[in-house]
Parts: sequence; structure tokens; C-alpha cells
Amino acid sequence: GAIFRPLPSAVPPSPNSNSTKISVIGAGNVGMAIAQTILTQDLVDELALVDAMPDKLRGEMLDLQHAAAFLPRTRITASTDYSITAGSDLCVVTAGARQIAGESRLDLVQRNLALFREIVPPLAEHSPQCIILVVSNPVDVLTYIAWKLSGFPSNRVIGSGTNLDSSRFRFLLAEHLEVNAQDVQAYMVGEHGDSSVALWSSISVAGVPLLGSLEKQQIAYEQEVLERIRRAVVESAYEVIRLKGYTSWAIGYSVANLARSLLRDQRRIHPVSILVRDLLTGVPSDRDIFLSLPALLGRSGVVGVTSLHLTDDEAACLSRSAQTLWEIQQMLGL
Ligand code: NAI
Ligand code: LAC
Repeated sequence: GAIFRPLPSAVPPSPNSNSTKISVIGAGNVGMAIAQTILTQDLVDELALVDAMPDKLRGEMLDLQHAAAFLPRTRITASTDYSITAGSDLCVVTAGARQIAGESRLDLVQRNLALFREIVPPLAEHSPQCIILVVSNPVDVLTYIAWKLSGFPSNRVIGSGTNLDSSRFRFLLAEHLEVNAQDVQAYMVGEHGDSSVALWSSISVAGVPLLGSLEKQQIAYEQEVLERIRRAVVESAYEVIRLKGYTSWAIGYSVANLARSLLRDQRRIHPVSILVRDLLTGVPSDRDIFLSLPALLGRSGVVGVTSLHLTDDEAACLSRSAQTLWEIQQMLGL
């Protein structure tokens, strides 16, 4: 007989009542770090994996399923067929070429543009109401491409952007200040890459602005330390790629952090890649460019954007960043 006598009143909910589903496209280093973190943090009812390599894909699915005894119950599916993503609340795109040592993220654009032309339309077709979160590099240009190819409103197409750079920034600042990184507020904005911009005025600990709390004679020294930290953040990925061949754990936690804010409607502020039209002085309003700014994230995606008080230098750096990305986008002919 059955192990359990079912209670007649316990009618199972309709399949898509309020269950949440994330699809991760690309089951590589990054996609699987994201998948593992999403499972550990109990963020969804269903996790679907898509990749172009069927054996690797099935192996990753089975390997995660075998952890079921240690994880919250989550339906884990996988297929090379995009229909597996149907009904997703969030589609995370990590598929694509990654940098080899010494290569910049921008060097990947042509290869990954070709992939996005294959990947984005079926995602949009199978989950027309989903949020697309782009991770593949160059993430700002590819988020623009995903926005164009999906036809989605810009609030539902986001790039992981400088959420990761800001985490690295907060780690290094925390080490310098000898406090927990979660108690250090600090933002990197702009391009997720070589031209990311550190917002010095955003650095605060327990609500106390760092630079504003220094004695006059300390400021010059502290600014030198902070500039060294900013350079170390920009160098981070190249150093890790040189040492282990790729980066994965930090981006895994960064994307799970974004997924929680989005799907649990947390209305938290994250520096992520968004359509900056009309949001940045120095960027012509007729140019569709995605760059990271501190954005309010909730169940409908980008709910709002903070109006930043930028110094002239910060505004000039962002404008240069926007120009670089615009020039690359112009070459794509999208
Ligand atoms: P990887 O090579 O380990 O994984 C890429 C996966 O994409 C492979 O499994 C491959 O089979 C799959 N793939 C290729 N073409 C596909 C297609 N048409 N459809 C579905 N899957 C396909 O690379 P890794 O290390 O996971 O990096 C992936 C991307 O993420 C790279 O572009 C990398 O630069 C980027 N990245 C972005 C970060 C960010 O902060 N935005 C951080 C770390 C990596
Ligand atoms: C990073 C690169 C790979 O880890 O985008 O920042």
C-alpha cells in the first residue's frame, strides 16, 4: 500500500500557481556556480539548465540532483531544447566564450553576439513575461543585445554589471578598514570592465561617509590607498583568470544575490547594467546604452534608479565608458 494515506483535502496546486522557476543558460563554470548557489539559498521551486553540450548538461543535472538529501526540494531539469525554459520567472544567460589570460571582455563581443542571436529569441518566446539577467561578457553590450533581440521592456533586461566589481571593492575596503564587508557600503558603476568607476563619495561604514570622516591631513593618504584598491578591483578578474583559468564563485553569489532581490521582490539597490537613457548627463539621450548604476530591483525587474551626485571626474569617466560601449555597439549593426 501507499507509504502515506493522502488527505483528500490536500489537492496539489495548479502547476504554475505561485511556483518560481529560474533557467540558467550555459552550464559552464559560471552557470553551475550560479545554479549551485541558487539551490543552496532555496530561491526557486524549479531550476532548468540549458547548454549546447548534452552529456555535460546531463552530467551537471545528475550531479546536482544527487545532492537532494542536503538541499531544499527543488525540481532540477536540463535540456539542449529551449522549451525546457518555458514559464521561467528569470532567465540567467551565462553561455558564451570567456576570456583567455590577457584577453579583455570586449574582445569577446563578436563570438558572443552570434550566440545571443541563437539563444535570446527562444528564451523570449518560451517565457514572454520573464526577466532576462545577462552575465556573459562583455556584459553591458550583451545586455543591450539581449534587450534588442528579446523585444522586452528595458525594466526586464538587466546585466549583472558591476554588482560583482562592487563586491570586490567592498571586500578590499573591508580588509583595509578591518570591518565586515557587509557593513561597508561602496559602489563601482559604469562598464563591468576596465573602465568601471569607483564612486568615492558612496563609501560609508555604519552610515558614516569614509572620506568625510577623515581629518584633513589623512585625506591625501587615504585617497592613495583607495586608488590602489580601485586598480586592484579592475585587475581582479585578470588575476583570477591567470591563476585558475576563469572566475566563478564570486559571480555565482553575486547573481544569486540579484535573483533573490528580483524574485522575492526585495526592492534592494544593486549596481547592475541597465538602459541609462536620460539618466546620465554626458550621455546623449538618443543613445541606447547599458551601464551599471545603483538600481532598485523587485519582481518587475528594474523598479527605479538612484539619481547619483557625481563629481565632474566621475561624470567624465562614465561618459567615456558610454562612448566606448556606443562605438562597439555601432559596429554590431543591430
Ligand atoms: P564556460 O566555457 O565554462 O561555459 C560556457 C558554456 O556555454 C559552455 O558550457 C558551453 O557549452 C555553453 N554554450 C556555448 N554555446 C552555447 C549555446 N549556443 N547555447 C547554450 N550553451 C552554450 O565559460 P564560463 O567560465 O562559464 O563563462 C561564461 C561567460 O560568463 C563568459 O562570457 C565569461 O566572460 C562570463 N563571465 C561574466 C562575469 C560577469 O561578472 N559578468 C563573471 C565571470 C564570467
Ligand atoms: C569577472 C569577469 C570574468 O570575473 O567578467 O569580472
